[in-house]
Amino acid sequence: MRYDPTFYAGAAVHYRSGRPPYSPQLEALLAEELGLDGSGRLLDVGCGPGFLTVRLASLFEDAVGLDPDPAMIAEGRRAAEERAIANITWIQARAEALPAAAPGPYRLVTFGQSFYWTDEVPVAEAVYDMVEPGGALVLLGHHAAGRVVPPSPGPPRIPHDEIRELVRNYLGSTGRAGRSTPPVQALSLQDALARSRFGAPRVIFAPGVPDHVLDVEGVLSNYFSMSFAAPHLFGDRVGEFAGELRALLSGRSPAGLFWDWPGDTKVLLARK
Ligand SMILES: C[S@@+](CC[C@H](N)C(=O)[O-])C[C@H]1O[C@@H](n2cnc3c(N)ncnc32)[C@H](O)[C@@H]1O
Repeated sequence: MRYDPTFYAGAAVHYRSGRPPYSPQLEALLAEELGLDGSGRLLDVGCGPGFLTVRLASLFEDAVGLDPDPAMIAEGRRAAEERAIANITWIQARAEALPAAAPGPYRLVTFGQSFYWTDEVPVAEAVYDMVEPGGALVLLGHHAAGRVVPPSPGPPRIPHDEIRELVRNYLGSTGRAGRSTPPVQALSLQDALARSRFGAPRVIFAPGVPDHVLDVEGVLSNYFSMSFAAPHLFGDRVGEFAGELRALLSGRSPAGLFWDWPGDTKVLLARK
């Protein structure tokens, strides 16, 4: 897949405030599954602003966050500094530059909603050689379909259908990513791993955050953090779009708060 540096142009500053967190039980689940004890190394590929890198770093001696987008890397570095986490190295590179960009060995290699941006099977093959025996590759994402929806903590849900319609009004009905369209996923994540030496992964669900609440600016950031609605795509109409979205949201929640249910955290775990 051809990387386009504008995939997430302008999105990095919105990512931490806009995106829902992964399951609060993620650290415990991975520690238990993989026997993590503070030794070994972590590589977080397509780390974005370091959601996972920062959360998992304390389970390892050293961690590496790797992403081709320099603004994402800058956000990750800033988040680690704010939390006084000193064992993370940040590397600006594509997954396809592995292993040279961040040589192993690693106990765990993670991809949080980033594997589908890469040349999946060759990348999994490269990672296989970088993981120590007994180590693992883990793909993470939010998964709502078929999961039990928790009760709302009060505020209405984000009106995603209406917002997507508004995005389409500005950007057209063909999904956008950078200067082109999003990557076509020829294989499911499971099937891509099954075609590598890792083989088919185990699928584990960790309970998602049931009460993630955002204000209007948070919902705006949620959309600006996504490649299909990244700020640069709106060109000089970005302010107009933001104004329309704020107006739409103010009519949907008098308190200006919205509930976000991204689903449970789906963990695809492939051992070496
Ligand atoms: C949806 S974000 C995920 C960020 C973070 N891992 C998380 O879980 O929140 C996808 C990330 O993949 C990165 N990315 C895109 N193409 C990539 C590639 N070829 N190799 C590595 N990362 C890539 C993007 O720059 C972006 O930061």
